Amino acid sequence: MTPPTLLRWKREGRRVVMLTAYDFTTARLLDEAGVDALLVGDSLGTVVQGHATTLKVTLDQAIYHAEMVARGARRALVIGDLPFGSYHESRRQAIRSACRMLKETECQAVKLEGGRRMAKTIRAVVEADVPVVGHVGLTPQSIRHLGGYKVQRDADAMLADAVAVAEAGAFAIVLECVPTEIAGRITETLPIPTIGIGAGPRCDGQVLVTPDLLGLFEGFRPKFVRRYAELAGAVREAAGRYAEDVRGGSFPAEAESFR
Ligand code: KIV
Repeated sequence: MTPPTLLRWKREGRRVVMLTAYDFTTARLLDEAGVDALLVGDSLGTVVQGHATTLKVTLDQAIYHAEMVARGARRALVIGDLPFGSYHESRRQAIRSACRMLKETECQAVKLEGGRRMAKTIRAVVEADVPVVGHVGLTPQSIRHLGGYKVQRDADAMLADAVAVAEAGAFAIVLECVPTEIAGRITETLPIPTIGIGAGPRCDGQVLVTPDLLGLFEGFRPKFVRRYAELAGAVREAAGRYAEDVRGGSFPAEAESFR
């Protein structure tokens, strides 16, 4: 999977399956399940690091996780998220951060948040030969500014943002927490695939945060999450049985020990 594959799929009307990943083992499993693209999202700040927002993630941490994910992926396109503060200072800083992501990992692309105000930055990064995925609608890195995780409803502003991102050279765009109607309009307008999260069924593809989909993360559950497994309970149950066996002396057994 490459950025041009996604552009071709847009023309062919083929849907893109994207999930987040943060480590080698999960990336390998998702890749084997046929997921087309793995996003090493800065959601790692909440679901891996346990922070309330994504703002604390550093570029070094994002690169550390992206490196593991890229090693686990054999077919999927791997996209490294640029964290808050790693591309906001200047275009020069954005190019430097994006190039680090591609140099120090086997990622094929970066993602960054923002519409019209980030268009020049996206263009600069693309011109430095780093493929870019945009992200508009609810942009969690702007949470202090937005005042909360809310559905975004300004259709004209979002369309203008999405068009600016596509014109700046992004090869795909994430639409987060956007009403179905607006996401559909954006999808029909853009020549690049839209990947929705909380943006309804009319996008060209969908992305979810994997610990949400697996029922592993219990911090909060947005309306748009569909759980395909309930792993939190399974993990607690397995660890509880292990604890019982250790305390009762039945683990390890003879067969699990060396002579
Ligand atoms: O960081 C992330 O996981 C994301 C997705 C929610 C799209 O940006």
